[in-house]
Amino acid sequence: MTTEPAVTTRRPGDELTERAGELDRADPLAGLRSRFLLPEGVVYLDGNSLGALPAAVPPALADAVHRQWGGDLIRSWNDNGWWQAPLRVGDAIGRLIGAAAGQTVAGDSTSVQLFNALTAATRLRPGRPLLLTDPAHFPTDQYVADSVARLTGLEVHRLPLADLPGFLAARGDQVAVAGYSPVDYRTGELSDMAATTDAARRSGALMLWDLCHAAGALPVRLDALGVDLAVGCGYKYLSGGPGAPAYLYVARRHHADFDHPLTGWNGHAEPFAASSDYTPAEGVGRARIGTPPILSMLALEAALTAFDGVDLDEVRAKSLSLTGFLLDCADRELDGLGFTAATPREPARRGSQVALRHPDAYALVQALAAHGVIGDMRAPDLLRFGVNALYTSHGDVLTAVRQLRAVVLAGEHRQERFRRRGEVT
Ligand SMILES: Cc1ncc(COP(=O)(O)O)c(C=O)c1O
Repeated sequence: MTTEPAVTTRRPGDELTERAGELDRADPLAGLRSRFLLPEGVVYLDGNSLGALPAAVPPALADAVHRQWGGDLIRSWNDNGWWQAPLRVGDAIGRLIGAAAGQTVAGDSTSVQLFNALTAATRLRPGRPLLLTDPAHFPTDQYVADSVARLTGLEVHRLPLADLPGFLAARGDQVAVAGYSPVDYRTGELSDMAATTDAARRSGALMLWDLCHAAGALPVRLDALGVDLAVGCGYKYLSGGPGAPAYLYVARRHHADFDHPLTGWNGHAEPFAASSDYTPAEGVGRARIGTPPILSMLALEAALTAFDGVDLDEVRAKSLSLTGFLLDCADRELDGLGFTAATPREPARRGSQVALRHPDAYALVQALAAHGVIGDMRAPDLLRFGVNALYTSHGDVLTAVRQLRAVVLAGEHRQERFRRRGEVT
């Protein structure tokens, strides 16, 4: 990508510039930015899609390739801890989502983990005919719910998250599992995980959370809330790299009865006994499937060290400061230019991104990227700006909004080159 010079940056002496400076100088997490390798001159606000590259990853990958694979060869399964990697990395993720050790396994994609979790959930709750999901859920969550329902004979009921507690109170005894996300991937709205999980628990239904937009961005307390199942990806706020392994959390109380649908040999109690019969491993290890992608797994493990010593309450506080400042900047700088905020103003209802509606969202995001400000769009009209408290500054946020203003005022987004759609939008 070629980067055109930013036409407006921070204007010395004005109030927003001063506020950005003050907030960044007082930021206790500012030093964490050096744990990431961000290109010079780029404002990166797409870590809610693909996290930036942690500085610990390239040397870890070089070691995995040259010393471990190249030198130690197959002995690495034992000598370099490859065999235990899915559970070890699972525990490292568990520390970020409030899961005590031994309940989280890393591997495969979120879609695969969702399929497994939903199917196993229906087996844990036989005789309950309904599988609930959100009509605004990320597409894969809806497609997988439909497929699991076809395979198991359940019926999918699409119900907005706001209506879920009421529905569970009235008809929860018919619900096997409810699969939802605490953060809306489009608007960034954050819901009350505790209240919803509690409503599920009281009805006897299982609660499955998709944590793709929450893990690493805000404190999640799976054990404390009594969540049953959770899945999430490794490549957004966890910054594990493109296609990083996802993860599955299974609360310990379900382990003994957890009947995993994909009975691969890695999940066997004795994987090297070559038995013809499947006996699941004890604990969450039974949710392992086949040979794990070790290079991606070790990249994710190295990426997670960016969280070493980091307090997620401080991450949350800074994330709210960044999204709040972004909304303030948008109010001031984009007034009258056709934008409306889709993200709630109340801090308790905000995840770690701000979404703005504009009819030219796609072309605007492309034109912004040409100036080194990277966000993304979701059809039909949302510009999304994700902040990651580990590497985003208030100065970044201000630069992005001012660049957006400049693009609109110059009408740059009307240029044909910014309206051509790539395969990935
Ligand atoms: C809520 C949610 N679930 C799932 C996914 C993607 O799943 P996968 O890792 O299978 O691509 C995304 C991707 O953006 C997402 O936002």
